[in-house]
Amino acid sequence: MRQVVRFVSGKRASLLCALVVVVGCSPPQVLQFTPSAELRAMTDGVEDATEKATLQKLQQQIEKEMEDRFGKPAKPIVFGDPKADRSTLEHGAEVYAYRCIQCHGVNGDGKGAVAQYLAPQPRDYTKGIFKFTSTPYGSKPRHSDLVNTLRRGIRGTSMPTFDDLDPADLAAVVDYVIYLSQRGELEQKIVTIAKDDEALPPEAIQGAVDEIAGRWKEAQSQTVMPVTAMPTMTPETVARGRELYFQQVCNKCHGLDGRGGLAGGIDIGVDSWGHKGAAADLTSGMYRGGGRPIDIYRRIYSGINGTPMPGFSQVFAKDPDSIWYLVHYVRDLGERRRRNQPPPKDPMAGITAAANPAGGTLIPAGALPSETDQTKKELDEAARATEPPTLPAPKPAAPKAKMEPKSDAASKEAKTGDGKKDEGKKDEGKKDEGKKDEGKKDEGKKEEGKKEEGKKEEGKKEEGKKEEPEKKSATEEKPKTEEKPAAEEKPKSDEKPAPEGNDKSPS
Ligand code: HEC
Ligand code: HEC
Repeated sequence: MRQVVRFVSGKRASLLCALVVVVGCSPPQVLQFTPSAELRAMTDGVEDATEKATLQKLQQQIEKEMEDRFGKPAKPIVFGDPKADRSTLEHGAEVYAYRCIQCHGVNGDGKGAVAQYLAPQPRDYTKGIFKFTSTPYGSKPRHSDLVNTLRRGIRGTSMPTFDDLDPADLAAVVDYVIYLSQRGELEQKIVTIAKDDEALPPEAIQGAVDEIAGRWKEAQSQTVMPVTAMPTMTPETVARGRELYFQQVCNKCHGLDGRGGLAGGIDIGVDSWGHKGAAADLTSGMYRGGGRPIDIYRRIYSGINGTPMPGFSQVFAKDPDSIWYLVHYVRDLGERRRRNQPPPKDPMAGITAAANPAGGTLIPAGALPSETDQTKKELDEAARATEPPTLPAPKPAAPKAKMEPKSDAASKEAKTGDGKKDEGKKDEGKKDEGKKDEGKKDEGKKEEGKKEEGKKEEGKKEEGKKEEPEKKSATEEKPKTEEKPAAEEKPKSDEKPAPEGNDKSPS
């Protein structure tokens, strides 16, 4: 830049144009947030002129409110804390503008310039829902979960890995993602308030701010850790996992052979973002949420926010090793290709109809109800819950010291990538610990319960199908959803920064 200026001042100005073209020295483009679709739609279908005028005025007020609270894309204001130091967030904004905006858009609504060419679509953060978390179902992700997702990338999608980024850049851009998510969520809540009240009462807005900030804060201290340590993977554990796969009707969505919705033509409706969902192809060996056993465990235990993938923590509350058996089966399915093993000719060989409530038939496309409304409802409920989804209930028996090292280990492992072997070894070591950690079982139960209920209902809709096992476990788990989870006291200690220093509170 400086060179250009010096050159121009001394020489003919006509060269300036050529240089501007070559060097690309145009004035920097000023990024602007745009009103969300919900905000723009506020006046849609309103005939009455007076009412329309009121709403239009409210629209303008909301835009101003948003700018006062959040600033501009490159000059962001820390959510809920306008006096806080903004330098990290500003740095995050720079990283975001350079590396993420093309896909995720200025607003973080997933509508970047190239988004239309991508499947699956880049995440819309403004809904406040994130898929790959270590927290219980319905909770926000931890800061470290998002850092890990960026390090890992999301395999099988266009979301790249950012492992080469400086840790400070990563932490800052994650702060910025959280900021965009909070901004989007608040905007939607304010629109709802404005439509309901035809006014913008400051206390209502403050209530919405506190709620969103509270949910982010509380998630930072919640981690789902395995109830038991992973058993050694053997042909027997894989076989047990295969039985459970059919018993729990995973095949309903993932197909008989595990190849999932796309290959199997199984329609599972749309996700919370309104995109057509597809169950993961478990034979691909590519895991969006990470391929370590603990990652797959968490996907099965907690389900995947915003998608039809249900959580199974309640189903296996009495028999937590079963989740590990399923992990082993999933891993085995994923490794067949690498081992050059063809997919099994008859994936259901030896599984009796009674052992598979879906009766071994694929549900024809379209037969499953769209689960979006259900999923949305659950997440809304979770959002409304005034108390943290997992409550601290002092249970003297819960051994505190065990959990922390584990979660630290988990984040370290995430850092080192796949680390399958180490994971296995470490888990061996944890075996004894796991036994003692009974208290953890209760973690996240309340939220899970909600989801399982949804599942039960879904089961009912499948007329004529045997649903014994699923239903039974669902009824068994019912009373437990009332229990106050004990493990909560535990993760609290995670609140302090993880060793790599990325795990900090977003606000
Ligand atoms: C080439 C397009 C592309 C770029 C560039 C990109 N992403 Fe993504 N991102 C995606 C897609 C696609 C998904 C959704 C994958 C899915 O649905 O599983 C995604 C998902 C995410 C998620 C959601 C994870 C979750 O748990 O739900 C986060 C957070 C994220 N991206 C952050 C970023 C950040 C930060 C950057 C820049 C440093 C970035 N992305 C750059 C395409 C992109
Ligand atoms: C109601 C449909 C449904 C059922 C039943 C279901 N899944 Fe899923 N599952 C999904 C969907 C959809 C996804 C993909 C979510 C996404 O990333 O968008 C998924 C993803 C997964 C993943 C994550 C893979 C990754 O990319 O990280 C695993 C593992 C998995 N399912 C295992 C199971 C197992 C094991 C069962 C049975 C115990 C099961 N699922 C039952 C719908 C279902």
